[in-house]
Amino acid sequence: MANKYEAVKSDIKAILKKDGYDDGNLGPVFIRLAWHASGTYDKHTKTGGSDGATMRFAPESSDPANAGLDKARAFLEPVKAKHSWISYADLWTLAGVTAVEALGGPTIPWAPGRSDKPAKGIKASDVPPNGRLPDAAQGASHIRDVFYRMGFDDRDIVALSGAHTLGRCHTDRSGFSGPWTYSPTKFSNQYFIQLVNNTWTVKKWDGPLQYEDPTGELMMLPTDLALIQDAKFKPIVEKYAKDRAAFYADFAKAFGKLLDLGVKRQAKI
Ligand code: HEM
Repeated sequence: MANKYEAVKSDIKAILKKDGYDDGNLGPVFIRLAWHASGTYDKHTKTGGSDGATMRFAPESSDPANAGLDKARAFLEPVKAKHSWISYADLWTLAGVTAVEALGGPTIPWAPGRSDKPAKGIKASDVPPNGRLPDAAQGASHIRDVFYRMGFDDRDIVALSGAHTLGRCHTDRSGFSGPWTYSPTKFSNQYFIQLVNNTWTVKKWDGPLQYEDPTGELMMLPTDLALIQDAKFKPIVEKYAKDRAAFYADFAKAFGKLLDLGVKRQAKI
C-alpha cells in the first residue's frame, strides 16, 4: 500500500482508544460503518456498495439500520480534515480494515480507488434504498436473501458474522442491548465459542426479542442464533469455534471482498 494510505491508517489507529466511549475503543463501530457502507450492494443491478460513500445522503443516512453510524463518521472527520485528498469511501473502508487489524484480527486485503458521489445534484435514486441491510429480528432465509444478493455463500455469511465477537448493541441505536462476548475490543473466535457452548434463552425485558446467557451479561440476536439453528450454518459455526486460524483466514477473505463489492476504479493508483 502506498505510503500516503499507511499515514491515514496510522492516524486512524491513533484515535481508536477512547476512554468513556462504550468499552473504550472506536474499532467496533468503525467496522460496522465499513460493513454497512458496503452491505447495500446488489449483484443483480450492480448498485450500492462502498463506492460513492452514499451514506452521507438520504435515504441511506437516515436508514434506521444505520442508526449511530453518524457518530462513527463524525469520529473520522479529523482524519479526513488532515488527509483531505482521501475519499470518504476509501476512508470508511480503511477504518474498518485498520480496526480489525489493530484489535488483533487478520490482515484484510484492501485497495484504494473508491470515489465519492458529489453532493451537488444528488437524488434519492442515486443512493441505495433502505431495506438492503439485514434485519436482526429475522432468521436464516432472510440472512441468505441479503448475503446471496451481495454474492456471498453460507461459509462467507458465518465468517462475516464472527465480527460480532466485537462491540455491542445499543438500545438508542438498534433497540437491542449488550455485547456478544466478554472481550468486545479484542478480535477472536469467542463469538462462535459462546454460540456453541453457552445456553441461550429469551431475555425477559421490555425490548425487542433477543437472547441472553445464564449470567444475563451476554446477548445474541435472533439472526445470531439462526446460525446454530440452521443445519448448513451450524457445522461452520462449530468449525470456527474450534479452529481460530480457519476463521481468521475466511474472515479476511470475505471482509476484503465485502469492502470491494461494486467498486469501480477509474484512475491508476
Ligand atoms: C445478519 C447479519 C447481521 C445483523 C442482523 C447485524 C445486526 C447488528 C446489530 C443489531 C447491531 C447493534 C447495533 C447497535 O445497536 O449499535 C450490530 C452491531 C455490530 N455489527 Fe452486526 N449484524 C450483522 C452482520 C454483521 C457483519 C457482516 C459485520 C461485519 C463484518 C458486523 C459487524 C458489527 C459490529 C462490529 C457491531 C458492533 C458495533 C458497535 O459496537 O458499535 N455485523 N449488528
